[in-house]
Amino acid sequence: MRFLGGNIALLGFMGCGKTTVGRILARKLGWKFIDLDCVISDKEGISIAEIFSRFGEEYFRELESEALERISHESSTVVATGGGLPTRETNWDILNVSYLTVYLKCQFETLYKRIQGDRNRPLTSQYSSKEKLFELYRKRVPYYERARVTIDTDNHSPKDIAEEIAVRADLKRSYQR
Ligand code: S3P
Repeated sequence: MRFLGGNIALLGFMGCGKTTVGRILARKLGWKFIDLDCVISDKEGISIAEIFSRFGEEYFRELESEALERISHESSTVVATGGGLPTRETNWDILNVSYLTVYLKCQFETLYKRIQGDRNRPLTSQYSSKEKLFELYRKRVPYYERARVTIDTDNHSPKDIAEEIAVRADLKRSYQR
């Protein structure tokens, strides 16, 4: 693979496959895979669900922005971001400078099937009905759409999605030269 240096950030709603695809993509490129939620929970020594329940969402968002800032100094990384990260304007200052942003687009119905009742995702109990969760999704889509690359993930395997990202990322770089 010709694509060397730089970083890729995967964006999208909960359940769109950022972690699964990110791992495959990183392996393919020979890069490091970083799951931002894991960076946060490792540093705090507690789970994301516990951070939400003990300190609240705003506190989590602070930790999330700090973690993004820290890892943005590394290179050759594929980062799976949390689904709410792109809704904070200051995070885009970092994303736009240090990452090729890739939106993993997925139909809400598919996402809902994957995430409903997941206890590790505190927002699925906070937004307790399908309607509420859809409203959250609807509000977030415009943020995800700011990504430089959008990949349709419906009916594609994680392996194929990773392949598509690698090709599109490489093309973007060729045009920039
Ligand atoms: C969140 C998504 C989660 C995690 C946290 C908040 C969100 O990550 O960061 O529970 O606001 O959508 P995933 O998108 O990996 O589930």
